[in-house]
Amino acid sequence: MVERIPAAKLGDIPDGEAILVPRSLTGTIDDIALFQDGGEYFALDNTCSHELASLSEGWIEDGVVECPLHTGRFCLRDGKVLSAPADTDVAAHTVEVDGDDILIVPN
Ligand code: FES
Repeated sequence: MVERIPAAKLGDIPDGEAILVPRSLTGTIDDIALFQDGGEYFALDNTCSHELASLSEGWIEDGVVECPLHTGRFCLRDGKVLSAPADTDVAAHTVEVDGDDILIVPN
């Protein structure tokens, strides 16, 4: 059975913002950044693949998060790197909404 981890409640994450979900909760290698962008929720490994900045502190717009340190950009949907100086994708995780709960399914 796939593990679904309650990570937040609807309303916890304003549009265009993110929260940090600690690895102690998710059981993943990295902490997870949980984003809301226009009513959709996305989850990526929190650590930028360039120099370890926290993507949960990044700028979120149009399905993209921009790293707060050197402005590398990643697709919120699949974690693909979109612009330098980052050159390596970050892991993306499935997000489900069940009632008021936002659930992460670690990949
Ligand atoms: Fe994210 Fe450099 S730490 S682009």
